[in-house]
Amino acid sequence: MKLFLDTADIDQIRKYSFIIEGVTTNPSLIAKVNTEYSFEDLIQEISTIVQGPISAEIISLESGLMVEEAETIARISPNIVIKVPMTMEGLKATKRLSQMGIKTNVTLIFSANQALLAAHCGATYVSVFVGRLDDIGHNGMEVVKDTVEIFTRHNYPTQVITASIRNPLHVLAAAKVGSHVVTIPPSVIELMSKHNLTDTGLERFLQDWKKVKF
Ligand code: E4P
Repeated sequence: MKLFLDTADIDQIRKYSFIIEGVTTNPSLIAKVNTEYSFEDLIQEISTIVQGPISAEIISLESGLMVEEAETIARISPNIVIKVPMTMEGLKATKRLSQMGIKTNVTLIFSANQALLAAHCGATYVSVFVGRLDDIGHNGMEVVKDTVEIFTRHNYPTQVITASIRNPLHVLAAAKVGSHVVTIPPSVIELMSKHNLTDTGLERFLQDWKKVKF
């Protein structure tokens, strides 16, 4: 399973670049970072830090315009993946982009049927938003599980990204159901690395080491 970082924050991307294989951004994450970079410069900068896939989202709503916007963004770097919203126009654009050899990440997926349509149109990735489903009392991970099962059974090459991660348990559950990728916010990566027993254990080892004669 690959780990992507779900942020547009350059400092955080630098910090965790030794762990992650890719980056996902979205318009809200881009708007959140306080930076002097323009959108294109920011994506360009990220692509100098991370060699793997970097998702950047288009904001057009009509398929022809989506394809034009995608072509412009894809020119920034060979590792750019175009995030396309899960709409009928988005699916049309996904099919065209796939024929053009431009990688896509169909986003805002909340059901296995949406994921199936996206895969059928040649999406490279589908992003299932588990946190937002859990927020409204649904079971986000069930959608990931069903999607992985369908793609495997029918040999779709599309990879499932578990997105909208809220906590380390989401990452664990995504790994167990066979998600190909999990995109994780920096705060959750940090939590994943920690355990109280690790801290107290290390403290005791360091104290005891002081009693050792050399
Ligand atoms: C990543 O691809 C998604 O855009 C992101 O995980 C959404 O997360 P959120 O539901 O916390 O906004």
